[in-house]
Amino acid sequence: MTTHELRQAYLRFFEERGHAIVPSASLVPDNDPTTLFTGSGMQPMVPYLLGEPHPLGTRIADSQKCFRSQDIEEVGDNRHTTFFEMLGNWSLGDYFKREQISWMFAFLTERVGLDPARLYVTVFRGSPARGIPRDEESVGYWQAAFATASIDAKAVDFPERDGMGEGRIFYYDERKNWWSRAGVPENMPVGEPGGPDTEMFWDFGPERELHQASVWKDEPCHVNCDCGRFLEIGNNVFMEYVRASDGFAKLPQQNVDFGGGLERLAAALADDPDVFCIDAFDGPRAVVESLSRLKYGKHAEHTRTFRIILDHLRAAVFLIGDGVFPSNKDQGYFVRRLIRRAVRCAAKLGIQEPVGASVGEAVVETYAVAYPSLSEGRARIAAELSQEEEKFRRSLEKGEREFEKMLAVSERVTGEQAFVLYTTYGFPLELTEEMVQEKGYAIDKEAFQAEFRKHQELSRSGSEQKFAGGLADHSAETTRLHTATHLLNQALRAVLGPHVFQRGSNITRERLRFDFSHPEKLTSEQLAAVEDWVNDIIRRDLPVHYEILGLDEAKARGAIGVFDDKYAQLGDKIKVYFVGDVAAGTYASSEVCGGPHVERTGELGGFKIAKEEAVAAGIRRIKAVLVSIA
Ligand code: SER
Repeated sequence: MTTHELRQAYLRFFEERGHAIVPSASLVPDNDPTTLFTGSGMQPMVPYLLGEPHPLGTRIADSQKCFRSQDIEEVGDNRHTTFFEMLGNWSLGDYFKREQISWMFAFLTERVGLDPARLYVTVFRGSPARGIPRDEESVGYWQAAFATASIDAKAVDFPERDGMGEGRIFYYDERKNWWSRAGVPENMPVGEPGGPDTEMFWDFGPERELHQASVWKDEPCHVNCDCGRFLEIGNNVFMEYVRASDGFAKLPQQNVDFGGGLERLAAALADDPDVFCIDAFDGPRAVVESLSRLKYGKHAEHTRTFRIILDHLRAAVFLIGDGVFPSNKDQGYFVRRLIRRAVRCAAKLGIQEPVGASVGEAVVETYAVAYPSLSEGRARIAAELSQEEEKFRRSLEKGEREFEKMLAVSERVTGEQAFVLYTTYGFPLELTEEMVQEKGYAIDKEAFQAEFRKHQELSRSGSEQKFAGGLADHSAETTRLHTATHLLNQALRAVLGPHVFQRGSNITRERLRFDFSHPEKLTSEQLAAVEDWVNDIIRRDLPVHYEILGLDEAKARGAIGVFDDKYAQLGDKIKVYFVGDVAAGTYASSEVCGGPHVERTGELGGFKIAKEEAVAAGIRRIKAVLVSIA
């Protein structure tokens, strides 16, 4: 099976079991101010896990594009990538442990053909202090599943001094077998869902262990160590808890949240622990090989460099495909960093020619069938990659010489110098850090970065802050601003005309930010008219409700919003929020949206535009706040 076939096999398997198959959401989450990227399959599902009805029912499956910026520095070993596809299936208060475990076992062993003797699993050992039981129930289902393959699956506690022994199923504590977006239970903010999980591992065999380490941190190897023998291929989260102010409460429904790395599954199936050897990397890898005249895997000293190029350019292609262009801010900064680091790595392999567009083209080619929008965006993707590469190449050599000089003079690079390298030669801070380390100099990361920031305006973009939580925010403040955003969208159309379309939206607890198409600066009269329009709706205290509609009906009822191929593929069912009087049948706003929203517009208080500015040709930006009215 190719990686592509594996993805389709998974989706088909769950479709046969009553799941609606949904397309991947964008790598850039909508209306979620707390995280820059979609980093797990469940992220777009949060409202539904918390209890909002999903328009397509209670069984959903997909393959979600994910980007984990926090893994950039891990890339280079045989398993980490920043971009990956996560296969996911969800029960939204429908089936639970029994079905999930027996299906997973059947999918992996029967449908995909993995040898059950080389599968291992972990389960949650329970937390008496939190009142969360040891997951013996899951163990029972796993044992029944393994028994169908004549395997006597013994369950044991871990860690144990003598290694894995006879165990097939291992109990771990909440550091390993609990999942929430915030990690362990104590890091979860109130309102965040999570639960115990059971994870599945593929055993590449003890002989692999010897290639890297036969012990891991002075302990015998086990499924969760990092020696390379075992690879986690999937995680079944039994999401039935929510963090309350005093401990944990049960969610209104028992959910299943499964996530499995497609690339890792492909590596297990190929029985090769190097994910960069799966067929999905064949095309791009061949391009790097031909440009560098080096064979991947033949020269140990280049393996890491090859992997960084392959990972980073693939991620950049998908990010650009989702509309993120290289820049100095927010998401764009990551695309810049990925491309520039890949370009420097290419230079290390002795590649003189441009590398971005040709590797990028091979990535697009590989994924064109699964992601048609990539192939539609092909020209744009190639252009962005080339431009960014060209900009950086022009200064790369000079910058490296300057860097050498700095080191020669004082055997260190200061934050201030790093800032010069960034502004004059385009070296992202993290690249400079890496270069210092490559030269064998230690770096006090924090002091260095702090000094860099002193010199840098762009830290104001707040990207650091956005990584802290990684949580979708459903607080009252953001919910109110979310409803205000819908009203603003309608108000702009009413005042300026129907050429106005949403081009971006970002909401924090303090303000909304809305980008829209409009060719010129708004006059103060227009701004006042927009504010008045919104405040009038607020004063009328209109009810807000949603309906799940067919695409045609939604359009017929005047719903605005993003009717892209994403919705077209959603089995024709979408969720539309209406503001206004149902009985009268006329609405102040109707918009395609996942929610949540307030119940009545009166809850918004008062609406005030704080700023209006240009963001790009033909695109304006409004920042607005809600104020309380005496
Ligand atoms: N949310 C879990 C994970 O990301 C399973 O989908 O691992």
